[in-house]
Amino acid sequence: MQLKRAAITGIAGWVPENRLTNQDLEKMVDTNDEWIRTRTGINERRILNEKGKGTSDIAVPAVLDLLKKTNTAPEEVDLLICATSTPDMQFPATANVICDKIGIKNAFGYDINAACSGFLYSLVTASKFIETGTYKKIIVVGADKMSSIINYQDRTTCIIFGDGGGAVMLEPSKDDSGIYDSILESDGSGRHYLFQKSGGSVSPATPESVAAREHFVTQEGAHVFKAAVKNLSSSMDRVMKRNNLTSDDIAWFIPHQANLRIIKAAAAYIGLDEKKVAVNISKYGNTTNGTIPLCLWEWESKFKKGDNLILGAFGGGFTWGAVYLKWAYDAPNS
Ligand code: UT7
Repeated sequence: MQLKRAAITGIAGWVPENRLTNQDLEKMVDTNDEWIRTRTGINERRILNEKGKGTSDIAVPAVLDLLKKTNTAPEEVDLLICATSTPDMQFPATANVICDKIGIKNAFGYDINAACSGFLYSLVTASKFIETGTYKKIIVVGADKMSSIINYQDRTTCIIFGDGGGAVMLEPSKDDSGIYDSILESDGSGRHYLFQKSGGSVSPATPESVAAREHFVTQEGAHVFKAAVKNLSSSMDRVMKRNNLTSDDIAWFIPHQANLRIIKAAAAYIGLDEKKVAVNISKYGNTTNGTIPLCLWEWESKFKKGDNLILGAFGGGFTWGAVYLKWAYDAPNS
């Protein structure tokens, strides 16, 4: 069978208007702007605070913009995968909600939950449908409304996360661009360090679980930090080595935005100049599945056709990985 490489042919993103600044957080918990900036690199995050709105409401404007930018009719889409850790509801899949709200009628859709690595897992999963010739137009969404599972009384987590997301179009490559290689890995023993205790089948919601604030993110930050640096660096290094790439060959590194110090450590490990690293964590914080598509969206005008990109992520699970791709197009307005 002749395999066709899958290429990203468009990208769009969306964040809510409402900002939660470090100064706002100073009034909510025992923290300060200087600590947050120096320990994480974050200045502010966006929060979707309209009642009754969820992750699909972050994804829908991004997907609508993506369809417009790629000149695609909703009926032409074959599949929509939504990477999210904060689905609109436990079920059905948020992908189904997004398709319904937009009128994507001929596609099937499902969600992938791999915490902060979900967008990379979804991108690689989608690329296989393209490579085998099964489908021609796949939308991969990465979006989270993290504010729905954050305890705004816990200073160790509430300063990190924000809401936002984006979407890419994947199509068969017409040339030598597209996704070349990926390393995806996970280790379930890491689940004890970053998780949401209640709300799943082991501990369904009860008045007690709500009172104990168990429906929010719990994180042992320092442990996660060390595992993130080690595994993110290692997967990027290995994917580069097995494709004979040195840091000089890489035009851009697009990392998951969890902590500026993690990003810098991983870039230093592969010997990459900081100018080649896409960083927007100061504006949005950690939007979980949203970080990589939001970065691709903001950096789109800087990418040149043929640029070598490394995408890398680490998150709850633990899950992590790296993707090597050749960018497929010059941005329309670049
Ligand atoms: O995206 C998913 C994966 N997640 C990550 O990759 C996140 C990884 N972890 C981190 O980014 C960092 O560990 C944090 C930003 C969460 C914390 O930074 P840290 O440098 O690892 O701090 P720490 O947890 O070691 O805490 C150092 C001190 C502690 O005080 P003591 O015990 O030294 O007196 C904390 O209580 O900082 C204190 N602290 C704070 N102080 C002011 C923790 N949070 C805050 C805060 N403001 N918000």
